[in-house]
Amino acid sequence: MASDAEFQSLLTATIDHLEALKRRGHRSVVLDPGTLQDLLASPTAPAVQPLPKPAPALSANPSFQSASPLPSAPSTPAAPKPALVTGESPVHSLATSLATSATIRVGLSREEKETAMAALKERALSCVQCSHLAAARKSVVFGVGDIHSPLMFVGEAPGADEDVQGEPFVGAAGQLLTKVIQTMGLSRETVYIGNLLKCRPDTPGGSLGNRKPTPDEMRTCLPYLQEQIRIIAPKVIIALGATAMEGLLGRSPVYITKMRGQWLQYEGIDLMPTYHPSYVLRNQSLATKRETWEDMLAAMERLGMPISDKQRGYFLK
Ligand code: URA
Repeated sequence: MASDAEFQSLLTATIDHLEALKRRGHRSVVLDPGTLQDLLASPTAPAVQPLPKPAPALSANPSFQSASPLPSAPSTPAAPKPALVTGESPVHSLATSLATSATIRVGLSREEKETAMAALKERALSCVQCSHLAAARKSVVFGVGDIHSPLMFVGEAPGADEDVQGEPFVGAAGQLLTKVIQTMGLSRETVYIGNLLKCRPDTPGGSLGNRKPTPDEMRTCLPYLQEQIRIIAPKVIIALGATAMEGLLGRSPVYITKMRGQWLQYEGIDLMPTYHPSYVLRNQSLATKRETWEDMLAAMERLGMPISDKQRGYFLK
């Protein structure tokens, strides 16, 4: 057992070492799971700040109001960060590998995050790797919201509306997502919203309909999303629909009806798969709305957000 003085000097040496690594450009260090647990349990670990109260007086069928800002994630989040999920690994082995090999981020400062995200955005805006998509697009839809937020939504790909406006989730599905976010007591400005693909999948003759991204398109574009996630380092990711999950897991097919509602891990970040808002719009059943809402409640709990009885009761008969 180390004395207080020994503990203090060990702590100082550790901090010095981490800061030296950070100065040399390192952004993660390997930790064994036991050390990680100890760090996370430490009273000095950076606490995730509780989120503000949800907006009051939401109606029974949530008519969704805007809300106060989410506090930012701590600037040095102690999020475990294992190697990227790749290949055909099934979900359970993803969780297992995270449990046995954890790393911890040396967090980026707010300024570093902003610089890194701006540089990434610049690269994405001029990307022509999928030449057919670059030729057909009106805009590159990079992502929107607060890059310091502890909550990130990941969708599939921009549709026609998003392509025109250059912003994710602004069409019909986006309007539903915005209502869901507001019913959580948040707003689009206090979370981050991104997509697996940054360009709209082209359609024959430029028609309005949407098509699923091809595996090639997903593989090509995924590094942008991966980098966005690394920079933002949210506490919770909500993946909207099977295609977003296929992209994140690097495997297909994904059955979202089976996968939704269960916590997974992505690079050590809590990941909640749920239905895509387009599916909820098409399906319209109370059960689907309730399941989607339960996934949001689970995310709110994970984020330490207060949840009112009214919020808990939405979409129950
Ligand atoms: N669907 C998505 O997955 N993303 C968007 O941005 C819009 C619709």
